[in-house]
Amino acid sequence: MNGIHFQCYGREGYKQVRHCIGDWLHALLREPVQVEAALNEAVNNAFRQGDRVDITIRVMNGKRLIMRVKDGGCGFAGNCRVAGLAREFPTEQELWQESGRGLRIMCAVLDRVTYNRQGNEVLLVKNMATDRHPRHMPDLPDMASYFAVQPVVGRQKGLGE
Ligand SMILES: Nc1ncnc2c1ncn2[C@@H]1O[C@H](COP(=O)(O)OP(=O)(O)OP(=O)(O)O)[C@@H](O)[C@H]1O
Ligand SMILES: [Mg+2]
Repeated sequence: MNGIHFQCYGREGYKQVRHCIGDWLHALLREPVQVEAALNEAVNNAFRQGDRVDITIRVMNGKRLIMRVKDGGCGFAGNCRVAGLAREFPTEQELWQESGRGLRIMCAVLDRVTYNRQGNEVLLVKNMATDRHPRHMPDLPDMASYFAVQPVVGRQKGLGE
């Protein structure tokens, strides 16, 4: 198994699985904490839009970690915002702000942050460093054992990977 797709019902659902996703990222990556934080930011943004969030996590060719977070909201001009961020260097004042940092964290940590046209799904890509690759991919957590999480079988139509 090189990927999982699951739906979380409420933040409670995500809380149930967050730790096992974190453990899995630790086994996989050199900078797991940053990537975990970036994923959490995307998930937090998604839960502001509604109570159901779809998350897909997979590894492509053992080289790229691909994560997708989709919400049921009406979206926003995500790519414009991300493009604006990439060009701007954060000011000291911005770094101390109590909100508005999620996208910035995602862009700083990940190699790609791309929203769909509607802006209710974000594709997060991290190129994996080769020097810390585990010999075998760690097994992904089994989402079926969590009550507020529904595993989805089959391939979801995805953003352009
Ligand atoms: N999934 C989404 N759907 C709709 N709008 C979004 C979504 N994600 C982000 N946004 C918009 O982009 C803004 C910036 O997001 P960002 O995560 O950077 O900051 P924040 O969520 O406002 O604050 P923080 O993440 O620091 O708590 C949000 O305030 C919101 O208006
Ligand atoms: Mg946010």
